[in-house]
Amino acid sequence: MKNNISFYLIFFFLTNLIGLPTKSDPIFDLGKDIFLNKAECSTCHTLADAGSKAEIGPNLNDIKPDKIRVILTVTNGIGVMPAYDGQLTSEEIDAVSHYVSIAAAK
Ligand code: HEC
Repeated sequence: MKNNISFYLIFFFLTNLIGLPTKSDPIFDLGKDIFLNKAECSTCHTLADAGSKAEIGPNLNDIKPDKIRVILTVTNGIGVMPAYDGQLTSEEIDAVSHYVSIAAAK
């Protein structure tokens, strides 16, 4: 028991040291990673939380889409925006939509 507590203390100390938030939302973090890297939404969309500035698609901070709207858009595509069905798993689409709906509303 004592060892377990020291383990957690060390764990939290180390995660703080390398700058990771200890109170985090793992789905939000995963979604942000997908937004920036795997799906590269950031190449077309401005979103302040992600630090992206692109004007091919609408500014997500302006349109503040809710989660359902993002899921539908990412799954089916819209206009020149590609559909991600088949490229992202449904868990990944859910995560990126969770992220965008929260980050855009900030
Ligand atoms: C190739 C550029 C491009 C990429 C990559 C891209 N988008 Fe888009 N996106 C657009 C364009 C352009 C529109 C506007 C389409 C229209 O209304 O005709 C749009 C529209 C949207 C909308 C608004 C849809 C609506 O209801 O009006 C959302 C939300 C969105 N994109 C989210 C995302 C997310 C999340 C990703 C990454 C998974 C992404 N986009 C990747 C170009 C892109």
